[in-house]
Amino acid sequence: MLRKWMVFALSAGLLVTLAGVGFSGDDDESPLEKVMEKVNKANAKIKQGVRNPANFRKKQKEVAEKSKELVKLAKESKPMKDALDKAKNEAKPQEKWNTLMDAFIEKSEKLSEVANKPSPDYDATKKAFSAVSKTCADCHNVFRVEDENF
Ligand code: HEC
Repeated sequence: MLRKWMVFALSAGLLVTLAGVGFSGDDDESPLEKVMEKVNKANAKIKQGVRNPANFRKKQKEVAEKSKELVKLAKESKPMKDALDKAKNEAKPQEKWNTLMDAFIEKSEKLSEVANKPSPDYDATKKAFSAVSKTCADCHNVFRVEDENF
């Protein structure tokens, strides 16, 4: 009887320990991953806002704000070196990274400029956003990001 109880207590303890390990696993995210999550959130809001002219009329302000945030996040992520060893077939990952990040920063700045005009133009904003999206994909292709959800 006592032994049965001990086995139970031990395995319960083990489960708690395993759950704890699972949780702390989330804290292993690289700084770049954390910024990318914010990038992704801002990106999703902008995407929604430029989906059609009716959305844009309602969400103009949010699109403008999130575009500014995107510029900030892009600049924040440029100095991060987490991903440099993930580049495939790149002789000079750091240079490639800088080029791709500069494109991301530049296109985000352009988007922010267009979206933050006193009366922003829908077509111009949508076009500027497409240019930003391309820079996301260009970089993820080189640095082999698996997630397909953006
Ligand atoms: C210059 C390179 C670069 C650009 C530009 C870039 N990313 Fe990323 N992104 C990465 C890398 C590298 C990772 C993988 C980070 C890791 O796993 O450590 C990543 C990861 C992600 C992730 C997964 C985050 C997670 O929790 O694992 C999302 C979502 C994402 N990026 C969205 C975007 C969006 C949206 C854009 C454009 C608006 C963008 N990224 C632009 C390099 C880039």
